[in-house]
Amino acid sequence: MTAGPRTIVLDCDPGHDDAIALLLAAGHPGAEIAAITTVGGNQTLEKVTGNALAVATVAGLDGVVVAAGCDRPLVRDAVLTDPRTHGASGLDGPELPEPTVPLDPRHGVDVIVETVMSHPARTVTLVPTGPLTNIATALRREPAIAARVAEVVLMGGGYSKGNVTAAAEFNIYTDPEAAHVVFSAPWRVTMVGIDLTHQALATPDVVERFRTLGTTAGRFVVDLLDFFGPAYRAKQGFPAPPVHDACAVARVLDPGVMAVRQAHVDVELRGEHTTGMTVTDFAGRDGRALEHLVATELDVPRFWDLVVGGIAELR
Ligand code: BDR
Ligand code: CA
Repeated sequence: MTAGPRTIVLDCDPGHDDAIALLLAAGHPGAEIAAITTVGGNQTLEKVTGNALAVATVAGLDGVVVAAGCDRPLVRDAVLTDPRTHGASGLDGPELPEPTVPLDPRHGVDVIVETVMSHPARTVTLVPTGPLTNIATALRREPAIAARVAEVVLMGGGYSKGNVTAAAEFNIYTDPEAAHVVFSAPWRVTMVGIDLTHQALATPDVVERFRTLGTTAGRFVVDLLDFFGPAYRAKQGFPAPPVHDACAVARVLDPGVMAVRQAHVDVELRGEHTTGMTVTDFAGRDGRALEHLVATELDVPRFWDLVVGGIAELR
């Protein structure tokens, strides 16, 4: 029996790397996007939702549900990404098309719940690439989704470092309470954090591969990276920009593209200097179950073949 495409819900806050993740999921035959939901994160909910509709339009996703979810973290004030990283729009660089994909009037959280509950058990994979507010709220609204999803493969966290603070990565730092709910629920969570995503650097040869595609989607990615690259270099000293969120989609499409280790992940909620840290225990201290998977090493050539190949399928 051959496995068909994986049904996914992409919960995102585009964002340059969210946009590349979306294009990858849209183009690659190994994924079928059941819904795209947005969450306030890199920019306001209004902006990231507009961006998601524009990117879905570039991807030709005319029949796919796009719905706006939560506009702020569960209990804290919003922390928007420094505009030097994603620009004032959240997606500076490319010229965004007027969306032809309509906004679904339902709340994104309802869409997540309805999508999971209306598909056969364990067939929908949730792929959050922003703060985890929508996913945690969906779990609260309908706890039965925990037993029904195939798995949660999220971009966020890290086991050795942070990127907003020394300890915390942006998606988890923005809404640590939501992340705590998601990591504590009885479903399989794979954490694709910054230890992994910092290996996914869009170097000049990669940009050239997208340029060579000669397609609308290929040019769009080049325009994204032309903004994202200098932004990451100026702000964080990276030689090339890491396409964090595309790594989570890649893991779903081709699990062998990265090595994972079993671990127990706790989200720090009360640290003086460590709030939002994903405290990762690989050793099962005090008899803790190692119920999470944590991505550690990326097969870089295989990753870029997957991403460029997937996006090459788009017009
Ligand atoms: C994460 O933060 C956002 O800026 C990116 O889109 C990514 O999801 C990386 O820390
Ligand atoms: Ca993101």
